[in-house]
Amino acid sequence: MCTDGLLGKEFTILGIGRSDGDDETLRASLDKFATEGDCWRDLRKRIAYLQGDFTADRVFDDVAQALGDRSAVFYLATPAQFFGAIVEKLAAKGLMAEAGSRFRRVAIEKPFGHDLASAKALDARILALLPESQIYRLDHFLGKETVQNILVARFANQWFEAVWNNRYIDHVQITAAETVEVGSRGSFYDATGALRDMVPNHLFQLLAMIAMEPPNSFDADAIRDEKAKVLRAIRKPTAVCAVRGQYGKGRVGSRNVPAYRKVPDVAADSRTETYVALKLEVDTWRWAGVPFYLRTGKALAARDTEIVVTFKAVPYALFRDCPIDRLPANRLIFQLQPDESIVLDMLVKKPGPVIKTAGTTLDFTYADHFKLSGRTGYETLLYDMMTGDQTLFQRAEQIEAGWAAVQPILDRWAKGKGRLESYAPGSAGPAGADALLERDGRFWHRIGQ
Ligand code: BG6
Repeated sequence: MCTDGLLGKEFTILGIGRSDGDDETLRASLDKFATEGDCWRDLRKRIAYLQGDFTADRVFDDVAQALGDRSAVFYLATPAQFFGAIVEKLAAKGLMAEAGSRFRRVAIEKPFGHDLASAKALDARILALLPESQIYRLDHFLGKETVQNILVARFANQWFEAVWNNRYIDHVQITAAETVEVGSRGSFYDATGALRDMVPNHLFQLLAMIAMEPPNSFDADAIRDEKAKVLRAIRKPTAVCAVRGQYGKGRVGSRNVPAYRKVPDVAADSRTETYVALKLEVDTWRWAGVPFYLRTGKALAARDTEIVVTFKAVPYALFRDCPIDRLPANRLIFQLQPDESIVLDMLVKKPGPVIKTAGTTLDFTYADHFKLSGRTGYETLLYDMMTGDQTLFQRAEQIEAGWAAVQPILDRWAKGKGRLESYAPGSAGPAGADALLERDGRFWHRIGQ
């Protein structure tokens, strides 16, 4: 944003925290993240610090005084259990009051609730005080370039729509594989697990982008309406559709990885999953019969976030070098991380007098065409919060539909039902995840490929 010249001259960041310190302490603590040269030097001067405890009233009075009549986005980078109370204080102190062109918005990052009931309770608490237009529920996956490009690819190119349905698509795989372990987040993670941490939010947002109907405008609510419809159409998964795993001791590349249960602040007999794979169905006219396989995990073989759309085989094999049941299916791969690309697998003729087919790809790699400068996704979302564009933020019903879809699995696991498999760090996850697809005669796209 800074290098793009999008920040106004009046822009200020006010950090609020319990630790002792002053403006310079906060600035110095952020220096290590700065990569943008002159821009950072200018931005640095606009950072200020206010010491205070957000459970006490006084800090809200201090914020009111520091803000005066200015517009503001309150970004709640606090533990989730404080979200409701902070919004109540902001509202009670008149800090959310908008007037004329002055806006006041609140940004809340996941986890938004711990399950369906708590998400509903939090929504009710916040919506009793603020309209949706002041609430920015943030999912940083939505700021990633390739995620937004799914919409452009689907709705700006004529050929997509023609094949984007259950007549031509066999199944969809959504993967968010990480090499990182739980590390210093033991206390948060052990109470959360891979399913809550990644599925109803990040992975469901990707699923919604792939499966939503074309909105009738690019207006925030038109898009959010369509996404909510998809999330509500996810059929409640049955027991056989969920696999969970926890990593043991081993290595990821050359790194030694202690078993998850040895991570500080993790229970020695923890049954929290660090990996989850699901098979889901989306009950709509377009997607009936097309399974969506989702998986995510820590300490895996490679960092790889991708969506693989596998098409059905052609109806008849003209080229006899390969029997129809072995003709490789066309696949469209949206690669989100580590490199951003869109790749379409296809068969071509091998040069030579005899007709033989060979697999190849049509490849669009972002970095070959555009300068990406190491963006994380947050830049876009922060900018949108300031300009008031809610397209990439979630409304209450999207959050609740996401939780509703995974609640049967959470309930089952809470009763101690369902195996917890162990998997080796540096692998592709537990064997049960492979079996989930093999039962259907399908295979996962290899992680890291
Ligand atoms: C966060 C999860 O929301 O997303 C983390 O809490 C996870 O556990 C992270 O590592 C993944 O984000 P990214 O952008 O690194 O893929």
